[in-house]
Amino acid sequence: MMYGDFAYFYDKLMYDLDYEKIYKFIKELLGEKSIEPKLILEMACGTGGLTEKIAKDYKLHAFDLSDDMLSVCENKIRSKNLKLFKQNMAGFSAPSTYDAIISVGDSLNYVTDTKDFEAAIKSTYDHLMEDGIFIFDLNTEYKFKNIPPVTVDEVEDVLYIWENIYDEKEKLNTYGVNFFRNIKDNDYKRFYEEHLERAYDLTFVKNLLEKIGFKEIEIYDDYEFKAAGEKTSRYTIAAKK
Ligand SMILES: C[S@@+](CC[C@H](N)C(=O)[O-])C[C@H]1O[C@@H](n2cnc3c(N)ncnc32)[C@H](O)[C@@H]1O
Repeated sequence: MMYGDFAYFYDKLMYDLDYEKIYKFIKELLGEKSIEPKLILEMACGTGGLTEKIAKDYKLHAFDLSDDMLSVCENKIRSKNLKLFKQNMAGFSAPSTYDAIISVGDSLNYVTDTKDFEAAIKSTYDHLMEDGIFIFDLNTEYKFKNIPPVTVDEVEDVLYIWENIYDEKEKLNTYGVNFFRNIKDNDYKRFYEEHLERAYDLTFVKNLLEKIGFKEIEIYDDYEFKAAGEKTSRYTIAAKK
């Protein structure tokens, strides 16, 4: 299922995604690789938590598949640097080639069909300039196995119950979220969304990147300059064309 009503609460609920840290890491990595991007592409930008930061410093194209996420993003960011559009990551087509392509917040885990995942990585390669860099992250199987089965929390006017089921055989993680939005006094409006993510094996991802032609593949631990390990919850992957 695509992001629908959830889009309008996403920013309130994603308080655990530290876009400042992510952006600092990306800038440092670009500096280390002596890449001074003239144009960046962000895939699956969502409501634009990172987009907003990148667009302050760089010219940026960004896309997502969800109309609702794009609508929140568009209303939030007013920048001449930013061009937003709708695309599917799987085999996407974008209007230019880029010095850097970025995708954060486990967006590529949402591409659950392996062939679509391959098509997304191939399109990324095709849209990079020579020596351009691809930086993305992936939730790990370790994380899926360790998410509590039920989380209940209340943020401002939204109470939510977040259920998590990881199917180890299929490598698929299902999040089912019941939202109860306080309309007034004791009046709550309920809605439900279900999201699916695939756990991709690191060896599979590395082999795929190499097969497509990427080089200098580096795997970090969750936007920190340290090597990923068994207990990494988010791989941060950088690869050059
Ligand atoms: C967890 S959100 C992350 C959003 C944003 N990158 C962030 O870090 O806040 C995953 C995003 O991936 C988008 N998405 C899922 N599948 C997609 C696809 N096939 N093509 C483009 N976007 C997709 C969703 O609409 C959603 O905005």
